[in-house]
Amino acid sequence: MAQRTLVLIKPDAVRRGLVGEVLSRFEAKGLSIVAMEHRSIDAAQADAHYAEHTEQPWYPPLREFAVSGPLVSLVLEGDEAIAVVRLLNGATDGRQAAPGTIRGDLSLSNRENLVHASDSEESATREIALWFPELS
Ligand code: CDP
Ligand code: MG
Repeated sequence: MAQRTLVLIKPDAVRRGLVGEVLSRFEAKGLSIVAMEHRSIDAAQADAHYAEHTEQPWYPPLREFAVSGPLVSLVLEGDEAIAVVRLLNGATDGRQAAPGTIRGDLSLSNRENLVHASDSEESATREIALWFPELS
């Protein structure tokens, strides 16, 4: 059954010229791009997106990173897209993520880890409404 998930190609990926590399992995897997935007965000949008994390000690530097430059937000669609994209992204810490995943192949950081993806149907619904209200 087709499912939608919210993905961010984070500012480190844009700075490193990896947008095409990351997008091509999602496309090659068979996922469809339903919406996509290149944009910068402010602290309020970062706080809304990372609402579950704003009390973490590591949140202030994460917010600095999130607003540090343009990112690409997108909605992907496909069979079990939420779980499939999490698998393609790999574990949060790029140093521990499995080879073959985006983070495992391309990131050496627990913060600058190139991609975000919704972690549940509830998160996907909330995040798609936040980033692409016209789709909700
Ligand atoms: O992105 P993911 O769902 O895999 O991880 P998370 O635990 O929901 O954390 C969200 C984001 O916070 C991560 O992707 C990292 O960019 C960042 N993070 C961080 O800066 N420092 C940590 N100790 C943990 C996460
Ligand atoms: Mg998360």
